[in-house]
Amino acid sequence: MNIQVRTKTIVSIHDELLVQFCYSDKQKLHKALQELSPLNIQALKHLDDNDFSGKESSSLLLFTGNRSLSRLLLVGLGNAENLTLEKIRRAFALAAKKLQALTLASGSLLLSSFVNEKLFSDYDTAVAATEAIKLSLYKFDKYITKEKKDSPISQITFVHKNIISQPFQNGIRDGIILADASIHARNLCNAPGNEIYPETLAKNAQALGRQLKFSVMVFGRQKIQQLGMGGIIGVSKGSEKEPRFIILEYGKKFQKKGTVALVGKGVTFDTGGISIKPAASMAEMKMDMSGAAAVIGTFHAAAKLKLQKHLIGLIPSVENMPSGTAVKPGDIIRHYNGKTSEVDNTDAEGRLILADALSYAEKFHPELVIDLATLTGAVVVALGHYATGMMGNDDATMSALKIAGEKTYERVWQLPLFDEYEKLIKSDVADVKNTGGRWGGAITAGWFLKKFIGKYKWVHLDIAGTAILESDQEYTPRGGSGVGVRLLAEFLKNWK
Ligand code: BES
Ligand code: MN
Ligand code: ZN
Repeated sequence: MNIQVRTKTIVSIHDELLVQFCYSDKQKLHKALQELSPLNIQALKHLDDNDFSGKESSSLLLFTGNRSLSRLLLVGLGNAENLTLEKIRRAFALAAKKLQALTLASGSLLLSSFVNEKLFSDYDTAVAATEAIKLSLYKFDKYITKEKKDSPISQITFVHKNIISQPFQNGIRDGIILADASIHARNLCNAPGNEIYPETLAKNAQALGRQLKFSVMVFGRQKIQQLGMGGIIGVSKGSEKEPRFIILEYGKKFQKKGTVALVGKGVTFDTGGISIKPAASMAEMKMDMSGAAAVIGTFHAAAKLKLQKHLIGLIPSVENMPSGTAVKPGDIIRHYNGKTSEVDNTDAEGRLILADALSYAEKFHPELVIDLATLTGAVVVALGHYATGMMGNDDATMSALKIAGEKTYERVWQLPLFDEYEKLIKSDVADVKNTGGRWGGAITAGWFLKKFIGKYKWVHLDIAGTAILESDQEYTPRGGSGVGVRLLAEFLKNWK
């Protein structure tokens, strides 16, 4: 699909569908409809509030009686005063999905409601509109062999009567990049466990690195063992699939400005191991590598956006299976930094592999480490699917992430790492235990990670609720959401 932008008068638009975005304020609604008057559409003349009021997520499809522009779609934006970038995303997503549902190949979207108003920068508006179109049309259908019903939309044209600013054009370019990078993450998550396992996850990162010219190094089982990464070895022992430790590096020449390391949980399937999970909804544990996907997606975005930052990506990847060779409850593991942990529950495997990665991160002298992990069911209980759980040791970084989260609408919400919670993961036989009991499970998991961090600023993002969706959202179908990519790209853009 191609997204382009054209300067045109309304009467010179020839397309299958024209979309006009309308505020619900009486005068603004009138103005938006007035703008369409050169088209001389009969149906518009009799339109009243009951037909279309411009309220949020409302729309109305009209036939124009005009051969070169046969359909008009009005899309509501709600009150102009309350417009946000997220409402822009949702309105453009609605328009794109209507175009798809009508099986049309192309549509023209009028921009006057946005670029005249100067509510947001032209750049931000264009990014939001563009990414929402691409993200909303996403479908994971590569394994469906029957002929695809949906028409592939080939062309979306943003139309404005005046010259379109350079920032707006740049926003379209970057919106496409950010959506493609998020979709890369979604595809990795939605791919089944028999396609994406540690070896193929690593291959995916390597292929991306070759394509976008950043470096990717992969350690196999032997090297991981030699390095003493006992968490990764332990969790992977029950599986026929060998573990991988994936290291990505981008922008080394910007190293003097400081290094950010991104750590992603790469459990390509989580059965729970010997502490096996119940069968219901176990299948969604193919997405237990969403943290890894977010890291790979962020590198995808960073390289294409040419961010001037030095980034390290660290992905410990395993398949968590039960078997005669699997790690058992009660086993004690020695991690990369020499600390030991008691495996109280083999289903708390994410923290065991992240412990190795977080302590290994120290090697790169990062100023900041951000880890992303579908770490706990407890964070889903606490925050549901609309906020990522955030913990860490640096308030300034967490505020910056909160701001980036509101802007991209990949929102984060802080949970406390009070000292009292630390006691809950005390072990009698090792330095730490991998479970903390029934209460505050997202926090005790965060505390476990905290015990393995080095001398750097650190933020932990528990994306268990936001990465795996049970139902469709406005521009995100159920399944893997690709969360983290747009959040981190926005955060990193503004970092120092
Ligand atoms: N991958 C799961 C967490 C998860 C649950 C992600 C639901 C997405 C949706 C993780 O490995 C896990 O099993 N955590 C356990 C920890 C417990 C045994 C301490 C959990 O949350 O139940
Ligand atoms: Mn688990
Ligand atoms: Zn897991």
